[in-house]
Amino acid sequence: MGSPAEPFRTVIEPFRIHAVEPLAMTTPKQRAEAIRAAGYNLFNLASSNVLIDLLTDSGTGAMSRDQWSAIQHGDESYAGSPSWEIFQRAVKSLFPFRHVIPTHQGRAAEKILFTVVGGPGRVIPSNTHFDTTRANIEFTGAEAVDLVIPEGRDPKALHPFKGNLDTAALDALLHERGRENVPLVMVTVTNNSGGGQPVSLENLHAVRAVCDRHGVSLFLDACRFAENAWFIRAREPGQHDREVADIVREMAGLADGMTMSAKKDPLCNIGGWLACNDDALAEAARNLLILTEGFPTYGGLAGRDLEAIAQGLKEAVSHDYLEYRIRSTAYLGEALDAAGIPVVLPIGGHAVYIDARGLLPHIPPLQYPGQALAIALYETGGVRTSEIGTVMFGRQPDGSEQPAAMDLVRLAIPRRTYTQSHIDYVIEVCLAVQERAPSLVGYRIESEPRQLRHFTARFAPLV
Ligand code: F0G
Repeated sequence: MGSPAEPFRTVIEPFRIHAVEPLAMTTPKQRAEAIRAAGYNLFNLASSNVLIDLLTDSGTGAMSRDQWSAIQHGDESYAGSPSWEIFQRAVKSLFPFRHVIPTHQGRAAEKILFTVVGGPGRVIPSNTHFDTTRANIEFTGAEAVDLVIPEGRDPKALHPFKGNLDTAALDALLHERGRENVPLVMVTVTNNSGGGQPVSLENLHAVRAVCDRHGVSLFLDACRFAENAWFIRAREPGQHDREVADIVREMAGLADGMTMSAKKDPLCNIGGWLACNDDALAEAARNLLILTEGFPTYGGLAGRDLEAIAQGLKEAVSHDYLEYRIRSTAYLGEALDAAGIPVVLPIGGHAVYIDARGLLPHIPPLQYPGQALAIALYETGGVRTSEIGTVMFGRQPDGSEQPAAMDLVRLAIPRRTYTQSHIDYVIEVCLAVQERAPSLVGYRIESEPRQLRHFTARFAPLV
């Protein structure tokens, strides 16, 4: 495809900087003290003690001039605001579902959806549920089942669509549990917990066919829909000449509904929605929305946020933006791979995932190698990342603890926020940690909550 700067190799940031935010430098001694005081949990750090924040790509991106301008256009009428119309039109232009229900973020949409369709005895299959999705399902007494293809569990398997759902396993589950116990199938695009890996259009069609055979609905967890569509365009035969927006519409057309966090691909700092075609589901959801979020024409959001999302959706499907976005994530991942740091391959869309079990084979999974690596990256260079492994997924609903399928550390890249020199610095920090990897120690958990323990657990080093 025609890169704007052709014939040059470098894929540049397709923007220039208009307002700057200072970054705070810290010393190794200050960082050692800060992480100890935080109970060795990176979520407990003050962000003023973080130099490069790769904890998440959620809500941390930079909005554009046009989004800030849209914010000024926001109309804060309680009911029937024109900002609601602008939001709804923008959402439906990509995701043409009959009902759109705005929420303050993705998990609020999940909470409402699974309050309506979940409950004891119910099963919700997915490629891989994100942690808030799983928690919202389990909170209702339902069961969340991950059915990603086997390659999706192997950090080294070079499959172009490692986020694909195993349709044979889905078919078997639907036969075994019966359609009356499976209210819907969820597909997460891209598959965040499985390494930011995309799902192919072919797989979505195949999942749809299984759902149709069993008479079960299909929902997308569409947080990273644009990155997924870019991968489809780049990797799937016959897709290369299509507009990303057109691919997105095909993805949405295969589903009966969706949940969304506008803090990801829609390029906003807050927001989300639930959308569906089913009138009865929408009515039940709106009743809950009024109880927990707000009136249906604003949900959990201010009019100005609705406008920022509408504008963000237009920018999210820009080819120049997506080429830069996917290339700049790969730039980091490829540098780590070339240096021999084990990373999930191919490199995903929004993040690079280091295989902590591979880098720290001397730390057993129940001593949390991912946590140990994330702490070392912070102590070494002030880079904040997150563990996606046994800390996040190890505690089972029955209270037991098991190693997660993988122990990964995620370097999530906020959208349009850091430049290539920031990323070059991150690469240097990773190489410094790689050098002293054999000397890193494991951790034990000192205290943890009952659910979503990774956010607030406190750790101590095993020395
Ligand atoms: N689904 C996926 C795939 C997600 O990645 C997230 C959030 C959510 C749902 C929930 O959305 O945060 O707006 O409530 N992921 C963030 C992350 C937190 O860091 O990956 P939310």
